[in-house]
Amino acid sequence: MQKKTEDTRGTIAWRCPSNIALVKYWGKHGVQLPANPSLSFSLREAYTETWVDFEWTDNQEVSLDFIFEGKKNEAFALRIKEYIQNILHHLPSLQGMHLTLSSRNSFPHSSGIASSASAFGAMALILNDLYYQMEGKSIHSPEFLQEVSELARLGSGSASRSIYPGFVAWGKTETLAASSDQHAIPLKNSQVHDQFRKMNDTILIVSKGEKDVKSSAGHELMKGHPYAGARFGQAGENMQKMLRTLELGDLDDFMNITENEALSLHAMMMTSTPSYLLLKPNSLIIMEKIRNFRKQSKVPVCFTIDAGPNIHVIYPEQVEREVKDFIQNDLLVYCEANQWIDDGMGKGPEKLK
Ligand code: PMV
Repeated sequence: MQKKTEDTRGTIAWRCPSNIALVKYWGKHGVQLPANPSLSFSLREAYTETWVDFEWTDNQEVSLDFIFEGKKNEAFALRIKEYIQNILHHLPSLQGMHLTLSSRNSFPHSSGIASSASAFGAMALILNDLYYQMEGKSIHSPEFLQEVSELARLGSGSASRSIYPGFVAWGKTETLAASSDQHAIPLKNSQVHDQFRKMNDTILIVSKGEKDVKSSAGHELMKGHPYAGARFGQAGENMQKMLRTLELGDLDDFMNITENEALSLHAMMMTSTPSYLLLKPNSLIIMEKIRNFRKQSKVPVCFTIDAGPNIHVIYPEQVEREVKDFIQNDLLVYCEANQWIDDGMGKGPEKLK
């Protein structure tokens, strides 16, 4: 372990991507454990970059300042402080440090795109990297990322999946030997058919407004929800089917499962108490148009949606030209201020300093 001295100070920076879930996590128990397994792919363009300047103090606690996009942000600082307190028993040698954290997102704050996965992913990377530095351990050891995934999960469940590139699974799944509720795992090359190696996600911004329901409240709504048992069962089955489909390269099954998951998530929100209608009329028009286009053109393209009105258009890179033309000609008019984000599968987190 590194000796605590007045000169133990420095800077660490990481970039962590967001991810898009194809099999959705919605409902949890215990300490941030998922009610069902989920599967996503990590994105390329939507990410958070976080820097930490650290130094020792005489205090026993961890103290921090949090600067978001150039401005001190007390609300975020409180949330991060609470998060660090909760995970400090995993990182005891950080006790007594003062951290100045600065963070920025690559996507506009007001775009309606959730940032908790990339934000907690970047935070967990920084904190475990700092801990490893204090302990004199190498971040290239195999357990580093697994521990980061677990720490990220404790901030936001979906963040556990942002720690790896490509397709990532989180939650115990019978047919996936190494899977766990505690942390996510990346799918191996042999588990993903060539069809799915390069996936695109064009995000259509139907509404930029703040979300009506925070995901923490959404997970809570699944407790006592009349359809919860059936939903968790369906997600488990969809996970098994999706894993088989990814291995076999069946695009039709892939599209059916992906859309089924998105619509089930919204069905849960519509039928919970209180109930939430997060889709906008334009979200429905876009979904219907995507289905009609797919039927007529036979181009493999489908949609998924998170807990909001924006539509993620998912398709393999080989049909990019056809899908982009379709989006530009037929879908952009249904977006707020014609806004969209051109994203796709990325290479996972990156250390900046
Ligand atoms: O990680 P949370 O608590 O923000 O929940 C994420 C929930 C969804 O984005 C709707 C689905 C998912 O699996 O990412």
